[in-house]
Amino acid sequence: MNAVATDSLSFEAVAPHLSGRFGKPYLYEPECESTQLLLLGSGLPEGAVAATDHQTGGRGRLGRRWVEPAGTSVLVSVLLHPPRERHLPELSLVAALAAAEAVEGATGLSAQIKWPNDVMLNRRKVAGVLAELSDGTVVVGIGINVNQTREQLPLDAPTPPGSLYTLTGRTHDRAALLGSLLYRLERIYDGWRHGGLADLYGEIGARDFLRGRRIWVDGQAGTALQILRDGRLEIETDAGEVRTLESGEVRYER
Ligand code: BTN
Repeated sequence: MNAVATDSLSFEAVAPHLSGRFGKPYLYEPECESTQLLLLGSGLPEGAVAATDHQTGGRGRLGRRWVEPAGTSVLVSVLLHPPRERHLPELSLVAALAAAEAVEGATGLSAQIKWPNDVMLNRRKVAGVLAELSDGTVVVGIGINVNQTREQLPLDAPTPPGSLYTLTGRTHDRAALLGSLLYRLERIYDGWRHGGLADLYGEIGARDFLRGRRIWVDGQAGTALQILRDGRLEIETDAGEVRTLESGEVRYER
């Protein structure tokens, strides 16, 4: 069966769902190379948002592509001016928590965060976060697989992908989901601005997908212990060494 998506992330569609300061201004292109490029180096104020219904050169982490059929996904970037004292890699977790909450609100299912930036639903990756830094500003890009059918999801993804549609059996309103995402991101980001991850840690730790799983990282096998209060991942290698990871790609046993 094909899930036909006729909705859009145009300003007219999303404006009724915007309730905070994120989304001012709101840049929308029906199609663009990457929403990241609409904001990087733009000089726009914090909270500027770029959204599209299709990317021709969507960027993923570690130089990967982020690919989607037009009209199926939430594709959004948000411009942030974080305070100097904050540890910027934590922003991936901040955005992943916002995406996890938005996905939970839309589906009624529990979402997890696969450190450092993936949102998982029923063991499938439904959203990813890419944070890019330029001149003290951070552009946080979030992609959520919303209405893709199973056949429309990438075959070669390192983490098994899913969409809200494949995991719930129903299509979802992308504009409403984007509004909910921006509302939650603003609230969580404001908490982080003022106090770092401390107050968010309970919400992040409760959704820790890797905790206790067998993992491989940097050619070493081990067990993921936990996301730490400073946002790093603590692991124990099979040689019995406890290590903390700042960033990276963790493969896990399925
Ligand atoms: C990942 O999991 O590798 C991160 C994916 C991030 C994709 C989003 S979609 C909106 C924004 N624009 C991009 O080109 N990438 C991010």
